[in-house]
Amino acid sequence: MTTAIYPGSFDPMTNGHLSIIQSGLVVFEKLVIAVLKNPKKESLFTVEERVEMIRESLAGQANVEVDSFDGLLVEYCKRKNARVVLRGLRAVADFEYELQMANMNRHLDENVETVFLMANDAYFYVSSNLVKEAAKLGGDVSRLVPPQVATRMTAKLGASK
Ligand code: PNS
Repeated sequence: MTTAIYPGSFDPMTNGHLSIIQSGLVVFEKLVIAVLKNPKKESLFTVEERVEMIRESLAGQANVEVDSFDGLLVEYCKRKNARVVLRGLRAVADFEYELQMANMNRHLDENVETVFLMANDAYFYVSSNLVKEAAKLGGDVSRLVPPQVATRMTAKLGASK
């Protein structure tokens, strides 16, 4: 059984992430969605909120585990007995950053392979950062994120206004 780790910030999860998860489940028997705990990076949602939102968005979906991690991704892979990291690729702009990370991870642990899947073209230009920026300015992003995320964004941004 091949398990792949799908790591990220997921602040918040978008439909682009969901499309990668659906595609990932075609290729791998199990996915572990791993939210990075990064106290240095300013975030809209806490790690706990992000994990909850992903769980809510994937309710009833088999073969998926949602978790959080800190430290090195390759060490987390070892703890989970996984040798594959799954990442989504969107436009060309992602490529260099992803190449650097994949090479660094290979340098740190040659047993870990990174596999890239293409995001659904409907979400090719959707990123958590742009979704947050648009929502903060009052834009409607409800078609770009799962409904559970849209509700929480409205609650959070409404509350902070
Ligand atoms: O969604 P993101 O922010 O692009 O995800 C980045 C992530 C979490 C995959 C990356 O920052 C990561 O793996 N961080 C863990 C620390 C680590 O292992 N660094 C060395 C490899 S770059």
